[in-house]
Amino acid sequence: MDVMGRRADPAAMATAAKTAAVPAATPAGTAAPAAARTAPTAVPVQAAAPLADAAGRLVATTPATPRMQQLIADIRAAVGRGLDPDTTARLVADRLAPHLGPDDLLTPEQRLGDPARYRQHLVHAEADGSFSVVALVWLPGQQTPIHDHVAWCVAGVHRGQESELRYRLVPDGPTARLEFTEAAVSPQGSVAAFAPPGDIHLVRNPGPGTALSIHVYGADISRLTTSIRRTYHLPAGPGPATGGR
Ligand SMILES: [Fe+2]
Repeated sequence: MDVMGRRADPAAMATAAKTAAVPAATPAGTAAPAAARTAPTAVPVQAAAPLADAAGRLVATTPATPRMQQLIADIRAAVGRGLDPDTTARLVADRLAPHLGPDDLLTPEQRLGDPARYRQHLVHAEADGSFSVVALVWLPGQQTPIHDHVAWCVAGVHRGQESELRYRLVPDGPTARLEFTEAAVSPQGSVAAFAPPGDIHLVRNPGPGTALSIHVYGADISRLTTSIRRTYHLPAGPGPATGGR
């Protein structure tokens, strides 16, 4: 298993950066940093399709499998140590990695996708709100918007593979712009652990098959309904490898 922690390393990323892009921070419950306070822009994106109750709280698709219950118990023990977000995420990544791949981790319902968009299944939300587990189902070509997160996050690839484009915000006069930093492909079994800041990315299933990933967040996703804090958009034009402002 490839377990990798990552946070933005400004010095390293500066040398890798190739592209500048105009930002458009879309607040999702929290204010954008001063450098990103350009006019908020509605972003047409592929959003997860949640299952929610009448109060708007996400509900679990089906009860957790015995293997998932064991994983949840392991995560609870790691989170319960009360360590800093980066360390907690790394500990959770270590717990998640051995469970990626076996058929008995998810129920059949938790593996169902949506032809219209990538789909999020809430698997577990801890009662005290300290962490949540979701299963994401990606049909070929489905992707997230460029986004950052409300809390630390651990993402493990259970089936297929995921590609990722990473960015950072850099000051640009009175505002800020997105700068592409690197691309990565995560094969089945890989785990990424990270915590804000330095967590701006876009995730896509490059295909050819369906991709399944298990994400653990240090937040109550049943209440928030999403782990995304803000989304960003690039200006019309070439992609991150060649685009300009
Ligand atoms: Fe993400």
